[in-house]
Amino acid sequence: MGNMIIIGHRGAAGYAPENTLASFKKALDLNVDMIEFDIHKCLSGELVVIHDFTLKRTTNLNGYIKNKTLKQLKQADAGNGETIPTLDESLRLINAESRVNIEIKGRDCFVELAQSIEYQINNKLYNPEHFLVSSFDHAQLLKFHSIMPGINTAVLVEKPMRKHLKLAAELQSESINPDYRFIDSKTLDLIHNAGFLAYAYTVDSNLHKEKMKRLGIDGFFTNFP
Ligand code: G3P
Ligand code: MG
Repeated sequence: MGNMIIIGHRGAAGYAPENTLASFKKALDLNVDMIEFDIHKCLSGELVVIHDFTLKRTTNLNGYIKNKTLKQLKQADAGNGETIPTLDESLRLINAESRVNIEIKGRDCFVELAQSIEYQINNKLYNPEHFLVSSFDHAQLLKFHSIMPGINTAVLVEKPMRKHLKLAAELQSESINPDYRFIDSKTLDLIHNAGFLAYAYTVDSNLHKEKMKRLGIDGFFTNFP
């Protein structure tokens, strides 16, 4: 087993507005191994980086992401005057200085996501190994894998179950990413013995970080990297 990696959750969301360029910059300053963010597709077809399906919680505007054009979304303040970044703007800022875990949150993002990743690789801006694509939407993850089998995937789950190991095998996944509250040594053994790494979300207190480390987790997501 290699070294445990630190994954900046929504960038470094404990220190800067989540899923913004400021948050990604902060995560890089803190030397994370990987930056996680969430994507949705907006009305004009671009992939944008935001967690929820609506604007309400994290911006000063309202409404569904899928019903807004990029131009409309760019009017929103995502915190401290930050705008909602596109996927491409986020990848440009991160500039392959860490790995990138792109979590597909919205519906029907996989084709545009594959195109963006392909562009980055073809232009030698990123290597395939920089990317980890994950989702709770396992059907979409399978579709992504079918068009981009060379990019690593991670199966996002709350509580790991045997059916998830089967899915991870089908996807040849790098990891299974469970809620840390469902990780114990037995569950971790199950994942490791099936040949996968385990990255746990979202581990913020020092107590829980220590506990995960002791259990032998391969990495964890944290708002406080
Ligand atoms: O990918 C880890 C974690 O981000 C999953 O949950 O709701 O924070 O996207 P959520
Ligand atoms: Mg996420």
